[in-house]
Amino acid sequence: MSQDEREFVVTPWEVRGEVDYEKLIRDFGTSIITDEILERIRKHTGDLHPLLKRKIFFSHRDFDWILNRYEAGEKFFLYTGRGPSGHTHLGHLIPWIFTKYLQEEFDVELYFQMTDDEKFLHDPKLNLDEATGYAYENALDVIACGFDPKKTFIFIDTEYAKTLYKIATKFAKHVTFSTVKAAFGFDVSTNIGLIFFPSIQAAPCFFPSVLKGKNTPCLIPAAIDQSVYWRVARDVAPKLSFYKPAEIHSKFFPSLMKGGKMSASEPESAIFTVDSPELAESKIMNAFTGGQATIKEQKEKGGNPKICPIYHYYSILFEWDEKKMAEIYENCKSGCLICGDDKQRLAEKVRSFLIEHQKKREKARDMFEDFILRDPS
Ligand code: TYM
Repeated sequence: MSQDEREFVVTPWEVRGEVDYEKLIRDFGTSIITDEILERIRKHTGDLHPLLKRKIFFSHRDFDWILNRYEAGEKFFLYTGRGPSGHTHLGHLIPWIFTKYLQEEFDVELYFQMTDDEKFLHDPKLNLDEATGYAYENALDVIACGFDPKKTFIFIDTEYAKTLYKIATKFAKHVTFSTVKAAFGFDVSTNIGLIFFPSIQAAPCFFPSVLKGKNTPCLIPAAIDQSVYWRVARDVAPKLSFYKPAEIHSKFFPSLMKGGKMSASEPESAIFTVDSPELAESKIMNAFTGGQATIKEQKEKGGNPKICPIYHYYSILFEWDEKKMAEIYENCKSGCLICGDDKQRLAEKVRSFLIEHQKKREKARDMFEDFILRDPS
């Protein structure tokens, strides 16, 4: 592996290279999800979600504390979100599918933030109306995941500004430029919207505490790229007399190309929820694999599932049967499985998934108002 491949970057705006998740835990100061924590979850849920069993959700901050509060009879709420820079891809769905599992198992509320402001401020080519438009489009995907409309509140930053801004302003007073500069790598050429923005993403950690007047524990499921926001939020929370938000982090859905994560800015690396099944199939058939260059070599030497996005697709979203997953692993390693066949089988699973999801997405258009949170007029 070259020096370049070994180096990796994980920030809220960029994930590059082969991510070393153990190193990330050390660098970000988070904790691994231990078997003891998994057992505690199992006590409440009966069975464990495959994303936990397979350690796709692998890291946390204070998740054990959330369980302590819950076991003491104090309900938490969930908070997650999306930066609407384009259409939703399958990677975005991972935290949402897991959040829905938590909502169902623990019977808790979810606040879902659409940061159209963040994406507008960050992307020089995106105008604000476009970002807000994508927020509405992405919300259809969120609703299609099957959240409980009575317990789920989706809000778009620029349209929920009256409530959001007041809390963000109180938060911002406790954060210096030097703190966000160190945490996010901002410099003097960063626009001032982005410099203020971390307080907008922090504000929902305290929504029920403010809106209902009762300090309420917050649990944030997200991929680990967002964790820097919560470090700042956790520093400030006690100054506002709120609990520190807790977090549970997932790994990344990999790119279909070699290395890195599925990314909206590289359409060939990702499958979008609005892609036609034919387009998705052609992306899968063109994907990088951990296989050998020829069928003969594959049969002799076997493949390498660890570096293969096709294998990870099964493991993360498309094969939740443990026995079948073990078979795919063994057959790939032994060379029995030929990459072309493996890709074709995955393409069929992705096709069924997309057809189902797109139907739910269309139905979601009529359910929108049941989910959206609006400022009081
Ligand atoms: P955004 O839009 O970059 O990502 C939305 C959610 O998807 C996760 N994610 C991924 N998960 C697995 N595999 C991938 N390849 C992948 N790419 C992205 C992100 O971690 C995130 O959970 N600033 C945020 C929006 C936001 C937010 C939040 C996210 C506002 N409040 C609270 C999480 C929790 C953003 O731009 O996310």
